Amino acid sequence: MVHFDPSKTNDEELTYGEGMAIIVEGGRITSIQSSHSVADEYGLQHGESTPSIEEIRIHDLGGQAVVPGLVDGHTHLLWSGDRSREVAWRQEGKSYAEIASLGGGIRSTVSHTRSASEDDLLASGYARLRSALRTGTTHMEAKSGYGLSTESELKLLKVMGHLNTIEHTPSIDPTWMGAHDIPSDSSHEAYVESLLSEQLPAVVEQGIARSADVFCEPGWFTIEESEELLKASKSAGLNLRMHVDEFVDGGGGELACQLGVDTADHAYHTPEQVRLEMKRVGVNTGFLPGTPYAMGDSWPNMNWVVDQEVPFTLATDFNPNCQTLSLPFMCSLMVQRSQVHPLKAIEAVTVSAARTTPHPSGLPHGVIAEGAVANFNIVDGPNWEAMCLRPSGTPFAATVLGGQFLPH
Ligand code: NIG
Ligand code: FE
Repeated sequence: MVHFDPSKTNDEELTYGEGMAIIVEGGRITSIQSSHSVADEYGLQHGESTPSIEEIRIHDLGGQAVVPGLVDGHTHLLWSGDRSREVAWRQEGKSYAEIASLGGGIRSTVSHTRSASEDDLLASGYARLRSALRTGTTHMEAKSGYGLSTESELKLLKVMGHLNTIEHTPSIDPTWMGAHDIPSDSSHEAYVESLLSEQLPAVVEQGIARSADVFCEPGWFTIEESEELLKASKSAGLNLRMHVDEFVDGGGGELACQLGVDTADHAYHTPEQVRLEMKRVGVNTGFLPGTPYAMGDSWPNMNWVVDQEVPFTLATDFNPNCQTLSLPFMCSLMVQRSQVHPLKAIEAVTVSAARTTPHPSGLPHGVIAEGAVANFNIVDGPNWEAMCLRPSGTPFAATVLGGQFLPH
């Protein structure tokens, strides 16, 4: 069982051995003990699964490994439309910016998302959450950003709020990302002004986002604009996240350090000295290997990142170009393509991700520990490493979500 006590450093201390039991009550983990002592306590004979006390349910896992519930710290969960045809443009050598200038990219998704009804978005959002649950995600960050008008950004955040009330789906940490692109019906300057004077106040007034995010990249939002938008968001009470240095080193990593944002994501082109500064000031890097995988690009040298102990998380970046919500797939890319140790990969999608993406209950999650939310995954096999070695399908036999046992 992988439990991740962050004060511990080596593999043996991060994992429990065989023969342990997790006791869950009221959606929380109340204790972790040896199976034998639990059997004695509840009057069970060896191998028996009927407890003497009626309200108690026992799940004998037969030696399967257990890992914490996975936390996806970066998704664009809600959007409509289809951009599959852009793949041919990419294969012809057109860049992300060129595709955007040809009418593809984010703006094309925006026009479909604006015309989608709340019910359509709710239905596709629900299906996506169920698919994320099958691969072990118990909580995820989700950004608006495909509406790009006050009305449609509020619509996306409102749908997230509805999704958050549905049982048996991962919970959602909502982020306002009005600064994802400039809509085609507005000038750059007018849109930035409307983000500050109209969208941000409306989002804050409705209390429907915990954080703000900005696509800080040459060609999208400049360093100065990003700084202004993020400072205004912080003053309005929102936490801060950023998309930085995705295509070039645009200085976004440095701004992330100055502002002390919770997480600076993509960060493919961030220089090493800036990565070390991010470590010094405690800014997380959210690596999103699914995006370069989908776009045919490579990702940074993860061995340097691991050796330097730069704090990082792994997330899916689910979006129209990168249609996976599988964190085990992200772990496979790291372990099977970048020589990252499986425990390090699992840490990046559990305990570390839980720091940037807290649980709505305020309780610890992404850990198997007393007092934490009872979110964990039963691996389909005896070894926890297996969750990093199944890039397709699910490596999990079941997920326990808020104490409820959900078989896959
Ligand atoms: O994080 N880079 C900015 N936004 C998304 C992709 C947006 C899109 O292409 O629709 C991302 O990868
Ligand atoms: Fe993103």
